[in-house]
Amino acid sequence: GAAGAVGLALGATGGALVHSAVTDSPAGAPGAAGALSSLGSTAVAFEGDHQAGITTPLQAKGHVLAFDLAPGAGRTEAAALMRRWSETARRLMAGETAPTGDSGIALDAGPSSLTVTFGFGHSFFERTGLTARRPAALDPLPDFSSDRLDAQRSNGDLWVQIGSNDGLVAFHALRAIQKDAGEAARVRWQMNGFNRSPGATASPMTARNLMGQIDGTGNPKPADPDFDKRIFVPAAGPGPAEHAWMAGGSYAVVRRIRMLLDDWDKQSLAQQEQVIGRTKANGAPLTGGGETTPLALDKLGTDGKPVIPSNAHARISAPAQNGGAAMLRRPFSFHDGIAPDGTPDAGLLFICWQADPLRGFVPVQRKLDRGDALSAFIRHESSGLYAVPPGPRTGEYVGQRLLE
Ligand code: HEM
Repeated sequence: GAAGAVGLALGATGGALVHSAVTDSPAGAPGAAGALSSLGSTAVAFEGDHQAGITTPLQAKGHVLAFDLAPGAGRTEAAALMRRWSETARRLMAGETAPTGDSGIALDAGPSSLTVTFGFGHSFFERTGLTARRPAALDPLPDFSSDRLDAQRSNGDLWVQIGSNDGLVAFHALRAIQKDAGEAARVRWQMNGFNRSPGATASPMTARNLMGQIDGTGNPKPADPDFDKRIFVPAAGPGPAEHAWMAGGSYAVVRRIRMLLDDWDKQSLAQQEQVIGRTKANGAPLTGGGETTPLALDKLGTDGKPVIPSNAHARISAPAQNGGAAMLRRPFSFHDGIAPDGTPDAGLLFICWQADPLRGFVPVQRKLDRGDALSAFIRHESSGLYAVPPGPRTGEYVGQRLLE
């Protein structure tokens, strides 16, 4: 879990947690039962240096979707849409009703850590006549040999990520965002995901994925001295002035990664642990210690071979093996039923955040693509790359510094 480790400590830089008093929360109408639980009453700030939903602790429910601008819609319509979406996000994240025609789906509930995060795809800039201000970091990702990508479920002009610890609150936001799109944009694809619910474990811990692994341990931590530099576009970077609108923003790589769970489940526990290089029980490196003990990559077993195999996923993806390339992984799991061949259509909605994909996702995926042990059990089925602008200031809409 980009989860646990990232999770709890987060919030200082963006998406800061704000505990709203129940009385401030019109949609929260606690009724005779009294105060909302802390789960329901927790609100995440919409304004800030960075958009919410990047360093916010993983939520239990998520929807990610891409929109394409409608034929004939350009910069003016896009700006108006971002203004509508921002106002809706600002209100719903505070536990208020939607600006117009609220559906009532979230009545009785508090904001439940709702976040709504917005990004722009490569094609957005042609549609809006803004290609001169498109950063090179948004250039299409290279092809990888193991890609099995569905173009219909990839890319898109606009990207929205919704997360909440309540399923109805998340769906309420989804409906409001979709209605706001009106005539200006239509849904290109949508994916739904989940994580463990807060409170399900005795104490907060790193999440597990659908292979049963502790996932998120190696994530950069907000307290790391280079965290901001790795995850967010610098304020006064060396980049051209026309890209200044992205200062404080981040790039999201989104991949629907199917897990071949029937094959995976046939592996013994020892085989599964060799694939990652960490134990399944507590995520500790096979070279010993606890979950947060560094991997002893050079340690040899009695057979003279590395204890953490040369093709172990945690070895190949480690920043030290990739010239320091690092990303913040903040995924959701998905399960869309059973595929025609009888296997589960389930896996990871892999979402990773970085200041520059060429120093994050791309070099790591290039190496994994050459054959890490996990590759035999996964399949990348869709791909998107989005420029996620900085958080809005008070009264500003997301993307205003590009679109106004
Ligand atoms: C680490 C699972 C795909 C990058 C890990 C770990 C697990 C894991 C269990 C070890 C614990 C941890 O540090 O979080 C998976 C699964 C995947 C997947 C199940 C697909 C379904 C990817 C992809 C990338 C990636 C596509 C990037 C291209 C990383 C990185 C680490 C990591 C950077 C941390 C390495 C470190 O800090 O030492 N992954 N992973 N993973 N994975 Fe993946």
